[in-house]
Amino acid sequence: MKFRSAAWFGPADRDGFIHRSWMKNQGLPDHLFDGRPVIGICNTWSELTPCNAHFRKIADHVKRGIYEAGGFPLEFPVMSLGETLMRPTTMMFRNLVSMDVEESIRANPVDGVVLLAGCDKTTPALLMGAASCDLPALMLSGGPMLNGKFRGRDIGSGTDVWKFSEDVRSGAMTMCEFMDAEACMSRSAGHCMTMGTASTMACVVEALGIGLPMNAAIPAADSRRYALAHLAGRRIVEMVREDLRMSKILTREAFENAICVVGAIGGSTNAVIHLLAIAGRMGVNLTLEDWDLLGRHVPCLVNLMPSGKYLMEDLYYAGGLPAVIRELGALIHRHALTVNGKTMGENVADAPCYNRDVIRPLGDPFKAHGGIAVLRGNLSPNGAVIKPSAATPTLMNHRGRAVVFENIDDFYARINDDSLDIDPSCVMVLKNCGPRGYPGMPEVGNMPLPPKILKQGITDMVRISDARMSGTAYGTVILHVSPEAASGGMLALVRNGDMIEVDVAARRLNLDVSETEVARRRMNWKRPQPFQRGYYQLYHEHVLQADQGADLDFLVGKSGAEIPKESH
Ligand code: FES
Repeated sequence: MKFRSAAWFGPADRDGFIHRSWMKNQGLPDHLFDGRPVIGICNTWSELTPCNAHFRKIADHVKRGIYEAGGFPLEFPVMSLGETLMRPTTMMFRNLVSMDVEESIRANPVDGVVLLAGCDKTTPALLMGAASCDLPALMLSGGPMLNGKFRGRDIGSGTDVWKFSEDVRSGAMTMCEFMDAEACMSRSAGHCMTMGTASTMACVVEALGIGLPMNAAIPAADSRRYALAHLAGRRIVEMVREDLRMSKILTREAFENAICVVGAIGGSTNAVIHLLAIAGRMGVNLTLEDWDLLGRHVPCLVNLMPSGKYLMEDLYYAGGLPAVIRELGALIHRHALTVNGKTMGENVADAPCYNRDVIRPLGDPFKAHGGIAVLRGNLSPNGAVIKPSAATPTLMNHRGRAVVFENIDDFYARINDDSLDIDPSCVMVLKNCGPRGYPGMPEVGNMPLPPKILKQGITDMVRISDARMSGTAYGTVILHVSPEAASGGMLALVRNGDMIEVDVAARRLNLDVSETEVARRRMNWKRPQPFQRGYYQLYHEHVLQADQGADLDFLVGKSGAEIPKESH
């Protein structure tokens, strides 16, 4: 069998000499160039991405497996996206990384690829880029951190940061205690160990079948994460020999399975945007409506923060994602093919559950509704999303007076002002935080409540924006309003004092303002100034709205992995 890499390493001529000779400066012997499968290890390691900082070691274990199976591993870096440090937001660069991945794979002698991802956006970025090449690919997640431990109890990444910071603002926690919690929260290698975006996307990887069983939950610090890396290396070599390309795995059925699993784990709203974008690359027709229709009847089975109380380490000990998928029974497409060559049904057939408080039975779920609800109305004609499992039930049918923040600076300038005209029944509205507006659609949709409300013991209010929210956050937060304010969506026209109606059961989101008044306001609306240079300009000109996955319009679809012309 002749592989793609033979076009580089095969010929006994000047070009073959060049391709092999320079590689040999790394100490690679002749026999590695004998036509065996060349496996790229696409690494998002970076010390600026702490969640992925252990990836060099993971890559070493992947290499062991590749060599053992008769392959030739070559590790390469791509831009990494560290959620906690990057500004204005990693989401701005997800599509840029996907281009880096796509072109790095296509331009090089790679027959198959292992994708190493962990921190939130690294997972969709690598899947999007690899999907546009459609070679055999297997994703290996870096694994979650061990449970945080603070003063005798478990604490979760992100979720407890939001809680602690509200406690400091309300006076329930001292600043000294707050600082103490920092090191207690992040005490091992790995990504956020709540069911935030990183854990959600690691579960999505397993549910799509593009990762091995148990990919999602094994902690980064557990030796079994490295054993899984070894097995991933072995398996990708076989996948190349079987020509098991991504398009054979990432089918419509696989995406439906992933939507169902996101509901069952009470997963992050960010999965909506990322799955739409990945499906767009793969050429699978997936819409926002699918999220609502397919997720509507899926109960939340997994009792993890932010919706529940446990963490990813507990999920692993309880049986991991296979136990969750097994519990979903007929809600899952059991014949969907996965990277290990077996079907999803075969993979989970005997998956045991060891803790029924962490993984609830389908007949007695943790929460009745786990999916993502899509709200439409004149305020969000193309859709907005809410995660009902993280919302306050009484606020999901609500009519309230709008308190409007024109942008994030306006929000920060006024939110702590005790003269702010706001009460617990109001609806907080934040504009200009969508893909174009901020730019990059940051995770600011879960606006902190004003101190004067917190002091009343109120912990949740209805909040609406075109932003995203961290998967570790919670509350009655309506996100991803499309079209966004900066593109002239109705959100741009909301004013203080307008009445807003939210009815999650009826999937409605309405601004109660007459059409004449809306038309009058629209006449006075001014489009924000575009960016004039570099990636910001490219992004601003081409980014799609949230309901279409916020990919760049010219990146949707795939170009395959045809071998480009020789370089010299
Ligand atoms: Fe990296 Fe949460 S900050 S996964």
